[in-house]
Amino acid sequence: MITQADLAGSFTLPGTSMTVNRMGYGAMQLSGRDGNKLIWGPPRDIDAAIAVLREAIASGVNHIDTSDYYGPHITNQIIRKALHPYPKQLVIVTKVGARRPEDGSWVLAVSPDEIRSAVHDNLRNLGLDALDVVNFRAMFNSLGPAEGSIEAPLTVLAELQQQGLIRHIGISNVTRTQIAEAKKIVPIVCVQNHYNLAHRADETIIDDLARQGIAYVPYFPLGGFNPLQSTTLSDVAAHLGATPMQVALAWLLQRSPNILVIPGTSSIEHLRENLQASRLQIPAEVMAELGAIGAPRANSGLNG
Ligand SMILES: NC(=O)c1ccc[n+]([C@@H]2O[C@H](COP(=O)([O-])OP(=O)(O)OC[C@H]3O[C@@H](n4cnc5c(N)ncnc54)[C@H](OP(=O)(O)O)[C@@H]3O)[C@@H](O)[C@H]2O)c1
Repeated sequence: MITQADLAGSFTLPGTSMTVNRMGYGAMQLSGRDGNKLIWGPPRDIDAAIAVLREAIASGVNHIDTSDYYGPHITNQIIRKALHPYPKQLVIVTKVGARRPEDGSWVLAVSPDEIRSAVHDNLRNLGLDALDVVNFRAMFNSLGPAEGSIEAPLTVLAELQQQGLIRHIGISNVTRTQIAEAKKIVPIVCVQNHYNLAHRADETIIDDLARQGIAYVPYFPLGGFNPLQSTTLSDVAAHLGATPMQVALAWLLQRSPNILVIPGTSSIEHLRENLQASRLQIPAEVMAELGAIGAPRANSGLNG
């Protein structure tokens, strides 16, 4: 049985009283799909989704990542149904910056009105008076972080923070320049970018943020919609008596002390497997072997 003390230690978001276990949970996978529309509509088995959330909390997870555009609205409604009234220590991190039209696509939603209404959607569907952390998710390019000013939407979030509707602010899918820009507007407690064993564009960003005490929260820690596959990863996992997904998570946790992981799953078995990854110690030489998987051709996918 995993206990709170086992969840990879804790991390305090800078300038806050919010301390979370480094092993968290990403709730995106709790929404369903409708044909080609991913993260859309209710899941096939809502009770199973609720059970995943309750088991995560019972196991000591106190950091859940979500957005009101998952579903849309559905993931937050499931979180509320499963967990409200929320445990005192739970930190729910949500994000704004996109909306979901009926065709299931993900469309930029960054006007002041759209940012305000996204915050109110999150408050309503989560059943909260104030959101713990809101990430502004930049989307200048569908392929990944791309340059462009994020001053206007962050200024709106800062106003909502002044009004008491948001406690802390983070940013997602951002470049170094945007991180620097954001920090001039408002204190940033976390950065959430695409990063995993195979996708390693953010090596220097992670180290910079670690020096500043800012959390780095990799999304798609297991590869997202295309789960990680690699002979090296499988061989290492077999050698360590673990699963490839556990090794991928343990590698992230050992990569840097400011990394908080939010693996996503709709399966209670996978949740249990993922939580156990916090107990896995990867020897230094094996860390190096794993690190070589994505290093030579960053962002090229896993073949090794
Ligand atoms: N800021 C952003 O732009 C952004 C973008 C994407 C995601 N996110 C956040 O990041 C979180 C994590 O990302 P993610 O859920 O997309 O991707 P992920 O955690 O990398 O991987 C999730 C996928 O891996 C599968 N999986 C999970 N555990 C497994 C295991 N032990 N063995 C085998 N398969 C396993 C899941 O399927 P099952 O359901 O079958 O387990 C799901 O298909 C999300 O929940 C969301 O909160 C943020």
